Amino acid sequence: MTFINNKFFLATFLMVTALACTNDTKKNPDNRIPASTVTVVQPKTELNESWTQDDVNNSNGILSIIEETLDKSTNGDPVMKRDAHPKHHGCVQASVEMDASALSNDQQVGVFSKTAPKKYEAWIRFSNGNPNFKKADADGDVRGMAIKLMNVTGSTSGSQDFLLMNSKSFFIKDSKEYVDFMKATEGNLSLLWFLATHGRTRNVILAAQGMKVGNPLHVDYFSATPYKLGNKVVKYSARSCTPSDKRDSIPKNPSHNFLHERLANTLKESEACFDFYAQVSVDARKMPVEDPTVEWDESLSPYKKIGRITIPKQTGVDTAEQMKFCENLSFDPWHTLPEQRPLGAINRVRLQVYTAISKKRHDYNSVPQIEPKSLSACTGDTEVLCK
Ligand code: HEM
Repeated sequence: MTFINNKFFLATFLMVTALACTNDTKKNPDNRIPASTVTVVQPKTELNESWTQDDVNNSNGILSIIEETLDKSTNGDPVMKRDAHPKHHGCVQASVEMDASALSNDQQVGVFSKTAPKKYEAWIRFSNGNPNFKKADADGDVRGMAIKLMNVTGSTSGSQDFLLMNSKSFFIKDSKEYVDFMKATEGNLSLLWFLATHGRTRNVILAAQGMKVGNPLHVDYFSATPYKLGNKVVKYSARSCTPSDKRDSIPKNPSHNFLHERLANTLKESEACFDFYAQVSVDARKMPVEDPTVEWDESLSPYKKIGRITIPKQTGVDTAEQMKFCENLSFDPWHTLPEQRPLGAINRVRLQVYTAISKKRHDYNSVPQIEPKSLSACTGDTEVLCK
């Protein structure tokens, strides 16, 4: 792959600058809401985590850049979208049944504990990762699956979220590299230089970008970053129940939003499912807490099945109300039980960024930040999210 090709693929996928929308009803761009004023309390480090003053400074810097980018890309439009994963294919109703008997007793904690409910109702949002929400679904991109288990007693938000994407590893190793990467995206040459000198970043991006996705229900998704599970460190994965040879391919003449159509139409005809897995770190050096660019070796520690996600047959995924509801939800890996919290510096950056950016966009859009408590999207408390 030449650098020119890299540039072509990566600039479209990675540009942290989303395209500005054109719309007649502009909001006053001077009414900017400073996300950086939101403060978060980082938990104390444990399980080989590292978090230094440099990380704190880097995290502040990352948030400022994201905030600035979002202000620029929103450009006074009526709706401020997510900075990452802004384009959703839809939000679907689901249930998640837990059976963590494959894990040792001390790992059966949180929603996997023997005393927790065996089944949770959930919302799942499927998305494309690119900051440019106007990109066609047929273009190469990272795909996201964000799962929200509802009514989880003891969680910070009342929900237990799992954020997954179609790559086993993340493309950035630590907070410093993230800052360097963001600065590099300001110029094509500097981006090329960054990619030329960061092989893992390049490989992760090209692999996810190159994946042919014909249906969001026919993809395997991964947490990429690690999480605490009792006194152990794990990564998660949700694997489509549809076998590889039965998965939809990209249609011959794909419409701009064909993944949205596939998601809605598949579920009008039949239910879908995913198996849910955890991979336990058994070697702190080879399966580290810091550096999520390292893919954990499955021969050292295979993924163990700990649950089943069922997405029943349903209509409503493509209604304007439910698409709006989807826009106005917040999925955040820190919506969690403490015993399952995210681990590592990249996840700590996410604590600051997701908290601040979700608040910023909800404030800008004049929509309250509400966690759903039932599968009825547009009635009761969450009715306001559908408007
Ligand atoms: C420092 C690293 C990261 C940063 C700064 C970051 C930033 C963001 C931001 C700003 C959002 C939008 C949040 C909102 O407005 O509510 C987002 C959403 C998302 N991110 Fe990340 N992210 C990071 C790492 C990751 C990783 C490792 C994953 C791996 C699974 C991931 C998966 C997602 C997904 C799936 C969404 C969409 C959530 C939804 O459906 O609402 N991100 N990210």
